[in-house]
Amino acid sequence: MPAEHVVERAYVWDRFVRLHHWNLAALVLLNAFIFDGGGPWHRWAGYAALGLVGTRLVWGAIGSRHARFSGFFPTPARIRAYLARPGVAMRGHNPLGAAMVFAMLGFVIALGVTGWLMGTDAYWGEEWLEQLHETFSDVLLACVALHVAGVTWVSRKTRINLPRAMLTGYKKDTGHAFRAVRASGDDAGRLTASMRQGQRPADAGRNAAEARRTKAMSAPSATCAQSRGSPGPSAARHDGRYVKGRQRKSAAVFLRKNRTPQFSY
Ligand code: HEM
Ligand code: HEM
Repeated sequence: MPAEHVVERAYVWDRFVRLHHWNLAALVLLNAFIFDGGGPWHRWAGYAALGLVGTRLVWGAIGSRHARFSGFFPTPARIRAYLARPGVAMRGHNPLGAAMVFAMLGFVIALGVTGWLMGTDAYWGEEWLEQLHETFSDVLLACVALHVAGVTWVSRKTRINLPRAMLTGYKKDTGHAFRAVRASGDDAGRLTASMRQGQRPADAGRNAAEARRTKAMSAPSATCAQSRGSPGPSAARHDGRYVKGRQRKSAAVFLRKNRTPQFSY
């Protein structure tokens, strides 16, 4: 059954978040692997990272929708909800990723503070402080490794390229594609509609098949005419801005290739 395939993009990461992210990542990696510990480059890069985190804390209070901490603070309830559907596509940070974000920001602050203390008269030459600084750095790098692993896993599972979104600001929003298919009246739409009502994907698939059988018995031509005829109301509506690609595909192929669940807000 042919269906319109409309992929939209959602603007998620504002320019500040993106610039902040890649600059912070560069500074942390430079300090950990390139600049000599304690040298002037190291100190200034460390303070720059600290300053960046400071600006991010302000932006977390006043920034755009998905930059604000209130929107993604990992509360126990949010974490529980996410663990019930791990890897579900989300517009902003998922709660586990968000926990890691706060940990990484915290460790950069801790590195800045311990680095600064090392240079003060009171703590000059203190072995334990140097050790603590290096331990913070090691733990931060472990967090970064987990962070990149998590980003890779979610990107594969949702089929949304998250690193690219952090470069361009846009996340592919296949949720709109599902809505487009639903508007054209075929199975894919029913499947997502029932998933959205909280059914497990397997049940939703069975129910969609059931609905198709019932519909085929009662009014087969209505379904076909609706989906084969005009592109459908949503395809027209999505014409123009943010429409990335549109192809004709059977609903089955569409479902297999676009298993991305709805965005959760
Ligand atoms: C992103 C922030 C930072 C990271 C990832 C980081 C990482 C590290 C690492 C891995 C070392 C050990 C290097 C080695 O043994 O060769 C080190 C040493 C050192 N860092 Fe940092 N650092 C950061 C920020 C700072 C800041 C802001 C300062 C001070 C202004 C600072 C001052 C020092 C000093 C003085 C040492 C030498 C300690 C010693 O003699 O063992 N660091 N840092
Ligand atoms: C030292 C290295 C890194 C640090 C300290 C770091 C830190 C962060 C922080 C603080 C955020 C939250 C952004 C915000 O809300 O402002 C974030 C998000 C993100 N980072 Fe990194 N990052 C690092 C490396 C990387 C790398 C190498 C990649 C690429 C694979 C990456 C991909 C991402 C993505 C895709 C997000 C958004 C995740 C989402 O969609 O929820 N990061 N990172």
